[in-house]
Amino acid sequence: MTHFLSRTRLYLATDSLDWMMNRSIKQSLSLQDAVPVSAGIDCVPDEPIETLYIHIPFCHTLCRFCSFHKVKFQESLAREYFQALRQEIRQVIAKGYRFNRVYIGGGTTTILEDELIKTIELIKSLTTIREVSCESDPIYFKEGHPELLKGLVDRMSIGVQSFDDAILKITGRFEKFGSGLQQAEYVSRAIELFPTVNVDMMYGFKMQNADTVHADLLQTMALNPDQITTYPLTIGIGKNRKKAGCLAGPAHELWPQFLAVKQALADRYVMEFPWTFSRSFGQPVQNKYVLDGEDCFGVGSGAFGRFGEQFSISSFDIADYIRLIDQVQSGTCYIKPLESKALIQHHLMIMMGHGHLDNQVFKGHTGRSLWQALPLEMSFLLASGAIVKRGDNYRTTEQGQFIALKMFVGFLTGMDYLREQARELPLTSV
Ligand SMILES: C[S@@+](CC[C@H](N)C(=O)[O-])C[C@H]1O[C@@H](n2cnc3c(N)ncnc32)[C@H](O)[C@@H]1O
Ligand code: SF4
Repeated sequence: MTHFLSRTRLYLATDSLDWMMNRSIKQSLSLQDAVPVSAGIDCVPDEPIETLYIHIPFCHTLCRFCSFHKVKFQESLAREYFQALRQEIRQVIAKGYRFNRVYIGGGTTTILEDELIKTIELIKSLTTIREVSCESDPIYFKEGHPELLKGLVDRMSIGVQSFDDAILKITGRFEKFGSGLQQAEYVSRAIELFPTVNVDMMYGFKMQNADTVHADLLQTMALNPDQITTYPLTIGIGKNRKKAGCLAGPAHELWPQFLAVKQALADRYVMEFPWTFSRSFGQPVQNKYVLDGEDCFGVGSGAFGRFGEQFSISSFDIADYIRLIDQVQSGTCYIKPLESKALIQHHLMIMMGHGHLDNQVFKGHTGRSLWQALPLEMSFLLASGAIVKRGDNYRTTEQGQFIALKMFVGFLTGMDYLREQARELPLTSV
């Protein structure tokens, strides 16, 4: 009975959270106030920016759930694109921007291996970055030459999503990337080559339940990757909702599946956030208290950047992006101001995910206590049993970890909503 009541309380809380987040995403992430910029942005900070994000917007075929920015691969356009991308990177570095890390995401980053290698080599010749992360699909480790990326890529993140052939078939990934067994073999090859390997897995599909998710994660763990990221299927609030929504299971199935993920990984992986797990090396993972959020500079078509209280958006039209690089040497074409409330809510998600809401740390960054800055959010979290008081601070409960996960889905939904509007923005004149 107590179990039933606490589950009902959790479902009531997450249903109302979904409703509130969808409303606030539409208000705070609307691009109606986005401002066109004709020659990019120029505000070089004294300190290095944490991440340079590079987007590669090409895929051979498109997966049914994915709303990331990508088009079908055409070799000549992609080669022209990589050239423009390197031109933009040279310009950004010449302006004085410095970065700690590089993250190359897609799309399919490895779609033209030689171009990718040239791009990473260029960055390494011009900067002293600490780490290069790169996304990839699994088939690259069968059909490509990943050994050529050895020494260039420090962290390889491979999208598997599921080892279950039924899930791979309904998402359109079985024909493209092979069966679950074959993909496991490709991941093993990657693990031999790169210092750090992450595997992306997904749950919340209609053919999944807690048992199949548990089995999927056990199979992932057997490969021994350094990190496992577990994404709940996000269906967005715009056009993609219909396409991805057909694949989604009932919303209330997500809680037992989240518990199944945790249980499967508990012995050998440490939960860093309710959506990322790292291999336990017998020492506690150092918890970096990321209250500020990290600044990020985006290059390439469809890339976003964030500095303090503004988003920068690069042209989503690939031909337009190439034209902008040629004419004004910057792909950034719009700036969107961000409300400080949205940033504070993002901090709240990060703190909830870490498991600890520290009033002093929060006050040090925002000048206000948690209750002064976020009275409605704090009342909601306490009433729903997501946090409990510990002295002056709060600790996240297991239900609270799930609420943090739902907030993360809200964050992914917001990014989806931004991408959808950005595709419709008028091209800027030079
Ligand atoms: C955009 S993909 C790029 C990686 C590579 N192209 C691949 O498919 O393996 C990066 C990751 O985003 C996640 N992703 C994509 N669409 C998603 C969605 N609708 N909901 C949740 N996660 C999603 C997947 O886990 C995927 O591995
Ligand atoms: S999930 Fe990866 S391969 Fe599939 S469409 Fe998205 S970016 Fe391309």
